Amino acid sequence: MRTRILGISGSPRSGGNTSILITTALEAAAKQGAKIEFIELAGMNIDICEHCNACTDLGRCKKDDELNKIAETMLTADGIIFGSPSHYASLTTLLKNLLDRTGRFIHLEGKVGSGIVVGRRSGTDIVLSQLLFFMLVKEMIVPGSAFWPVGFSLNVGDIRSDTEAILMASQIGKRVAQLAATLVRNPVPWSVEPRPVGQKVRFGDEWK
Ligand SMILES: Cc1cc2nc3c(=O)[nH]c(=O)nc-3n(C[C@H](O)[C@H](O)[C@H](O)COP(=O)(O)O)c2cc1C
Repeated sequence: MRTRILGISGSPRSGGNTSILITTALEAAAKQGAKIEFIELAGMNIDICEHCNACTDLGRCKKDDELNKIAETMLTADGIIFGSPSHYASLTTLLKNLLDRTGRFIHLEGKVGSGIVVGRRSGTDIVLSQLLFFMLVKEMIVPGSAFWPVGFSLNVGDIRSDTEAILMASQIGKRVAQLAATLVRNPVPWSVEPRPVGQKVRFGDEWK
């Protein structure tokens, strides 16, 4: 069975630097035999999380916007590569909304996760940390790369000159695909355990 690797660009610019790095990673994943999917959040209508908790009973968000379609794709992915530019040293609003809206009800546990970040000058490490914090608390499994997957660019396409960032994105895609293929054959226990609908959060191994 081919593994499914999903790349999500949280940039508000379609075809921007984040998208270039994410598609570079996905191309490397495809070379490993993975089925790749790419979503750009640019131009999408994704409202904010209201913390109503309805998703814990419904298994989806009650808001009927474009989020639920993305959530379905995330659910079927074996590995997800999140990408964001640094916006005032933070994840973009678009990607943060996606994480807030889906993090509570999508079973990401045991999936492979990775983050790729771009910025003109500063805040990229903070953004990478934000993504790592999310992936770790969702019990995703994060492969490393030979250098941190961070690139520097201002205008659309500038990232192509950051050859080290292109190389790291490529390595991330390859590692995510390789690890996902291994875990599809040999899943970790917490990836196959379904999240009981109606249960809110996990404390240790117990759902409350
Ligand atoms: C609202 C906004 C805030 C930004 N804040 C930062 C920042 O804090 N640090 C930085 O290095 N670059 C910052 N940038 C620049 C972008 O990170 C940079 O242009 C990046 O290449 C954009 O990637 P994209 O083409 O994928 O959108 C900001 C850009 C915007 C639009």
